[in-house]
Amino acid sequence: MVSEIKKYVINGKDVWQGYLYKVNNEKQRNPIKYHIRPLTPDDAEQMGKLSENIYKHLKNGEECFIHKHSQEYFHEVFNNTQINYIGVFVGNHLIGMSYIRVCETKEELQEELPNSEYNFFETERNNGKNKIASMGGDSVLPNYRGNALNTIMINYRIEQAQKLGCTDCTSIVDRKNRWNMGPYFACRFNLFSTAIDPSDGGKISLLHKPIEKDSVLSCFKPRVSIPFERLELIDYMISKGFVGVEFNRENGEVLFAHTQYYRQAQRMMVQNYKQLQIKQRMTKAL
Ligand SMILES: CC(C)(COP(=O)(O)OP(=O)(O)OC[C@H]1O[C@@H](n2cnc3c(N)ncnc32)[C@H](O)[C@@H]1OP(=O)(O)O)[C@@H](O)C(=O)NCCC(=O)NCCS
Repeated sequence: MVSEIKKYVINGKDVWQGYLYKVNNEKQRNPIKYHIRPLTPDDAEQMGKLSENIYKHLKNGEECFIHKHSQEYFHEVFNNTQINYIGVFVGNHLIGMSYIRVCETKEELQEELPNSEYNFFETERNNGKNKIASMGGDSVLPNYRGNALNTIMINYRIEQAQKLGCTDCTSIVDRKNRWNMGPYFACRFNLFSTAIDPSDGGKISLLHKPIEKDSVLSCFKPRVSIPFERLELIDYMISKGFVGVEFNRENGEVLFAHTQYYRQAQRMMVQNYKQLQIKQRMTKAL
């Protein structure tokens, strides 16, 4: 159950407040109040502990690309004015966090959205005023999962991005991580491309949402559902102009719909898919 969110501005900062209905997998008779606010260097110690805790509890099938960081790292991170961390608190206890990094060049975005073929900084887009808010570091402590906290953090970050003058939001999700697909699709992101993360060779899904446009989908086109682990088939669908728009947790299928929006990325995917087929045929022939 997702609680209603109340939005406040306190000392110039956006503070959102809601209730947790599930803790430790148990429904709460008396929902627990939480709030979301921007993090500051004073939170660095708790951020280090949260990061350690998330890593300690990662299970098989919970693959994620986010890195374990120390509190020293989190102290330093506040010197980078492009990065804005937000946190979810129960009282003074940090139970979830995530960030947006505002990218104004292709190179900056490449660090956040590795191997993306689509050029978000093309001058025809948004009259050349492109500013991309890349989301990352999404984490909720295991005991507090199941309250849609990441969906709420994504919505908070979209509003932050809008206030910072961003035109688009992007993110990456490990292709095996079924837990973070729902939250991004719930916030109307599109799985528009897939790639290999050069830092660890992991397979990742690239997600995007134009801030102003509500939908980029074509009308009157069929919808196709594909199991999320059918990686090659998903690449093929993307090469044919489809994007992932929904995740069904019951059967593990991603729903694909058609769009013209990412044509440039799709052309590259077609080439890559063809090259892969040629490579496979050659390997077979040898
Ligand atoms: C991804 C993440 C932030 C989502 O947390 P969340 O916002 O609390 O998740 P939701 O509320 O949307 O969860 C929906 C359901 O999935 C379950 N779920 C969520 N994450 C889960 C996980 N990692 N393992 C098992 N079940 C999980 C919830 O318990 C809930 O179940 P319910 O409907 O039966 O109550 C959280 O799983 C996490 O911190 N994972 C580790 C770090 C990570 O993978 N980050 C993402 C990098 S791509």
